[in-house]
Amino acid sequence: RLAYVNGRLVPLADATVHIEDRGFQFADGVYEVAASLNGRMLDWPQHVARLGRSLRELSIAAPMSDAALSIVARRVLAANRIRDGLLYVQVTRGAARRDHPFPANTTPTLVMTARPFDFRVRVAQQKTGISVITHPEIRWQRRDIKSIALLPNVLAKQSAREAKAFEAWFVDADGTVTEGSSTNAWIVRKDGTIVTYPASENILHGVMRGTLLALAREHQIRVEEAPFTAADALDAAEAFLTSTTAPCLPIVSIDGNRIGDGTPGPVTARLAEALWSEVE
Ligand code: PDD
Repeated sequence: RLAYVNGRLVPLADATVHIEDRGFQFADGVYEVAASLNGRMLDWPQHVARLGRSLRELSIAAPMSDAALSIVARRVLAANRIRDGLLYVQVTRGAARRDHPFPANTTPTLVMTARPFDFRVRVAQQKTGISVITHPEIRWQRRDIKSIALLPNVLAKQSAREAKAFEAWFVDADGTVTEGSSTNAWIVRKDGTIVTYPASENILHGVMRGTLLALAREHQIRVEEAPFTAADALDAAEAFLTSTTAPCLPIVSIDGNRIGDGTPGPVTARLAEALWSEVE
């Protein structure tokens, strides 16, 4: 496997950055995960746009133009002979002597890696459904920035792993479900309306979230961007989650409580089908 590090493709095992990189010392950086399916990058322009926005919000200079970034991304996928896989892109503020304020004159660090990913593993989960647990919302207030500071997400996902669940849903002090540790959260109300937390500073604006909202509207499914609670989710007809790596997975239990009849629901199945027929 080959990785891209600041202008060069190098064997992954030899790919390194400076120990005083601010990504390493302060988690002072941002990232993207984008998918390639059948040799085609999915929603790549949206990922590039979100990366640009994350960088601007943190006043980190763009390491290169969007067009150049796209060329490098394709090169990394091609160099690793990946048709079905995931591309990881990370930009940090760069290396400098450790001091909290932004350093003057540092060049941002850009790294990219790619790995194969078989989206067929999701097909089985599509049929059986997956479980989630709830976890206290312990993150900062700018979750719209795709920051590499993911410790709360890591802790939440580990709790899910230990509970043999696929994902952990963050629940804030009001009982509202914001999103999952690496996915956006959705319910289907008994009246058939699909509901997901509004795009704000409280959640990551998932690329798949945007794609699915558009798709639902196209299919005349009623959608509402509104907060819902864990109790609302337990009372819902269906629940599901979305992300680049888990495009539209039905949830059949939350904290061990069945959702609907405990099997994947029809609205989720319809959306997943619409999504797959669009990307294939
Ligand atoms: N996670 N919410 C959070 C907190 C996320 O980290 C992610 C993505 C999403 C879904 O966003 P998208 O649809 O753009 O993938 C929502 C990536 C996949 C990760 O950290 O691996």
